[in-house]
Formats: sequence, C-alpha cells, structure tokens
Amino acid sequence: MKVLILDDNDRFRQYLIATLEERLGEIDAVEVTKPHLAIALFESDPYFQLVISSLDLKTGSFMEVFQHFKQNQYTVPFVTYTSDEVESAPPGVDLLYKDEESQFSNFKEQLLSLELFRPVEEATVEIEYSRVRLFFFWRFSKVDFPLYVKLNDDKFVKVLHAQEEYNSSFLEKYQERGQKYFYVEHTDFEKFALSLYQKPLINLEEGLSPIEKKIRKTQFMQQMVQSVGVTEEVIETAEASLQEIIAEAKQKKTLSKLLLIIEKSSSYNSDHATLLCYVTAAMCDEMGWNTRRSKEKLGFASLFHDVTLVDSRLAILNYTSMEELNSFDRKAQKRYKDHPLKCAELVKEITEKYPQVDTIISQHHERPDGSGFPYGKDYNQLTPLSSLFIVAHDFVSQVFEKNFDLDKPQEIFDKMIPEYRLGHFSRCMKALQNVLKNDQIDE
Ligand SMILES: [Fe+2]
Ligand SMILES: [Fe+2]
Repeated sequence: MKVLILDDNDRFRQYLIATLEERLGEIDAVEVTKPHLAIALFESDPYFQLVISSLDLKTGSFMEVFQHFKQNQYTVPFVTYTSDEVESAPPGVDLLYKDEESQFSNFKEQLLSLELFRPVEEATVEIEYSRVRLFFFWRFSKVDFPLYVKLNDDKFVKVLHAQEEYNSSFLEKYQERGQKYFYVEHTDFEKFALSLYQKPLINLEEGLSPIEKKIRKTQFMQQMVQSVGVTEEVIETAEASLQEIIAEAKQKKTLSKLLLIIEKSSSYNSDHATLLCYVTAAMCDEMGWNTRRSKEKLGFASLFHDVTLVDSRLAILNYTSMEELNSFDRKAQKRYKDHPLKCAELVKEITEKYPQVDTIISQHHERPDGSGFPYGKDYNQLTPLSSLFIVAHDFVSQVFEKNFDLDKPQEIFDKMIPEYRLGHFSRCMKALQNVLKNDQIDE
C-alpha cells in the first residue's frame, strides 16, 4: 500500500508508521512535513492509495491539501487525526482522536478498525514477532527489548539482547544486506512503538564518547533528511551539534585529535561530514569571519552536501578522481552529477533561517578554474563562503585518501596550493594552512 503521511511531529509519524506496518506488513510510506510538499509530491507521483494527515500541523493546514484534491477531483481517501477534541474534519474525511493520555490506545483501535486497514483474512496462527523498521534504531544506541532478524517464515534469530548496546556498524551491517526490518517479540511491540513517540528523537547512551555521539547524530540526521527532508527537530539537533563543534574548533587543539578518532570509525559519509564541520569552523575563525552565522551555514552545508549519495563509493569521488565515475552505471553517474542540486533542494527549508546553505551545497563541486560542475562557475563567480567550503572539502577528501596520515600535511598542501591561487581561494588556502599549523603547535 502506498501511503502519503503528512505530519511535522517526527516522533508521532514514526509511531504511526510502526503501528501501520505491524498490521499491514511493509507499506510504502512517503513522509512529508508541509502541506505544499504533500501537494507537490502527489502531483509528481499520483499513485498514492491513501493520504494520512495530522490536523495539528505547526505550519500550514491539512485544508490546503484537501482543497487542492477537491479542485482537481482526485478521489484518494483521507484519514486525519488531531489531539484537539473540538477540531473537525471536512465531510467524507475520517477523523481520529489522538489521545496521549491513553497512550494512543483509542487512536490505535480506531485506526485499525477503519475498513482500509482490516486484514483480508483474520490471522489463524498466533503472531510471535512484529516487524519494526531498522531505520528507527538509528535514534538509539540501546533498546529495552531483544531484537531478531527473520530468516524465513517461521525462523527468527536473536541478534541483540535487551539493553545491549549497539553501534552504527551493527545497523550498517544489516542495512548493507538489504534488511529493512528488525523484529521484536509481539508482546513487546506496543511498548516499543510507544517509545518511538515518548523518547527524544535522538537518545544515545551517556557512555558513548563525545565524538562517537557526534558522528552518530550526523548519521541519524543524514538518514532523516534522506527519508523525510529537513524537519524542525532535525534542524534543532543539527544546531546543537554544530554549536558544540564550533566551540571545540575554536580551541583549535581538537582538529588533529579528531582526525585520530575518526580514523577508527566506519562510515565514510558521516565521518566526512563531521570532519568538514570542524575544518570549516576552524577556517572561519582563522579568517576572522564571525559574521552572522557563517559557521552555522558552512556546518549545515557540511552535514547535508552529499546526503543523496547513499553509496559511499560515489560520495568519495572528487575532481581528482573523476575518471572513476565511468566505472559506474548510467543511473549512478546521473545521481552523482545531480547531487549538488538535489541536496541543495532538500535543504531549502533551512535557508529561511540560514540563507545561502543551498548555494554552498549546489556549488561544492565547482572549481576555481571553471572546470567543475554543475554550473562551471569560476573563482570570480563563487562567493567567499562557497570558496571556503570548496577548499575545506578538498582537504577533507585528501585526508581520507591519505588514510588520516597527517604526519606530513605539507604533502597535501603542495598538491592544493597551485589549485587555489585566485580570488578568495588564496586567502582560504592560507587559512587552512594556518589552522593546521596552530594545531601542531598546540599539540
Ligand atoms: Fe563531499
Ligand atoms: Fe559532493
């Protein structure tokens, strides 16, 4: 079943998806947080069988979507819900009451008794295990219930004990195998689903090291942006994370230490993004750029500039390794060529508060000599913020190529300096060298 879900409360939306998937099996749920996005999505892909929407949206109203559908005589059924007892839905639209006090038990009962969600046949065998999207587990580093994976229809194996901590490679391992679900014992399901609503959006164990926490948060935010775009809670999480990074980068000492820690981590995309946050913040300090929100803008761009490149073999490519792109199929090549604009589009929501984040992202593969993509702009046409980002990005990519061996940063600089002689680029390049110099003196 293909369902469009409109709700800007991330935790409730996840509770709802879990509840529906337990009853219906895998659903194709497309999540959106704004009415205009719901309309745009439907217009580009009208094959939704159902629209489920909150009536308690913080911006905009479900009525915008409803009116649009009515004007165009679309006949897709709607289900709506609200926690406001006096709220009413337009005629012909199901309205459910979302009652936090009863821990949504009435809501769930009403929802699952809708004709749409009734199982075709009553289950004859007792259900032992309930499916839960693997994606939800990025929010935590430990859960109260044992987790299982499904081998076949009647065989499930336990892969994690209750209260056992897991790291990101645990999730990545199953994700890489194409596993979309874990299973919990059926009797644990209700509590688990509720915890998706009740626990903070990102809830990591105290015992994790600060850097591990930052990387885990980066991973989670990237996954969120891939699946639902930038939500208010994602922005808040990112802001908190960036403030810490900006403060740490100011102390300068951490850059080389960070390189050592990140070396041990496993996921290219989140390491690349986290490190880039530090480097751009440190470079801003060095340039004396304390203008409003420069560091935050560069930080947001760092987090999300490659977010559509889920395949890290693609994300790793840069201007020095462009020939390697030919070894990918056409679809992957297109995805790569499009990613600066696609990623910029995904973060549009941020730009009200942090203007230019989308510009920095869309220009991150441009080159000073105009040989980059997608625009082919040169040093004269790129803004100072974009120029700084391009230099930092190049450096971070080269650090990866060198396996974090920064004994001789000069080797990297020798390669970079001739590339960045022109315009803003030369100042940015000097700032980068100074950041690393200071770092070594402090050590
Ligand atoms: Fe990148
Ligand atoms: Fe990129």
